Amino acid sequence: MKNKILLIIYVVASFFSANFIAHSEESIEQIIKGRKALFSKNYKTAKRVDILSKDLEFEDAKKFMLDMQKNYIELLKYFPENTKEGFGTQSLPTIWQNKDEFNLLMQKSADDLIQLASLIEEAEDIRGTLKKYMWQNCNTCHSKFRKPH
Ligand code: HEC
Repeated sequence: MKNKILLIIYVVASFFSANFIAHSEESIEQIIKGRKALFSKNYKTAKRVDILSKDLEFEDAKKFMLDMQKNYIELLKYFPENTKEGFGTQSLPTIWQNKDEFNLLMQKSADDLIQLASLIEEAEDIRGTLKKYMWQNCNTCHSKFRKPH
């Protein structure tokens, strides 16, 4: 009788722990894949911003700049401690060693897009302005926080 009870406890406990592990694995996967998807989306959006601005289609360009800005703010939530490895992540450990610097750079990248939206129309050098307020932030961050690929 005692053994039976122990067996039941064991089965129930292992069911819950297996379930728990499976569940947290799943959310790690969702987070890593989620941030990759957001970066890929921002890349596509950045290319549209670039083309639209050079075509002087500022109203549409500005909408996409603000989409990117929101994605950067969203991305701040996508780097919890338990997502350093796995699922093909290209994130470097330097992110978690310099979390404040990383977050500041993400925030700056977002803020720069608001600036860009406010000054692109009057900019004399559209190409240079896009570089300064959009493309440069990609490189600054990747060179320190993303695995070379
Ligand atoms: C503040 C840091 C930061 C900024 C700014 C940033 N990135 Fe990234 N990016 C990363 C990190 C970290 C990864 C790796 C994510 C992972 O695999 O976990 C990444 C991954 C990517 C990927 C690969 C996504 C995938 O599917 O694996 C692309 C594409 C990308 N970034 C494009 C851009 C572009 C374009 C910009 C600028 C418009 C940009 N990023 C700005 C940090 C940044």
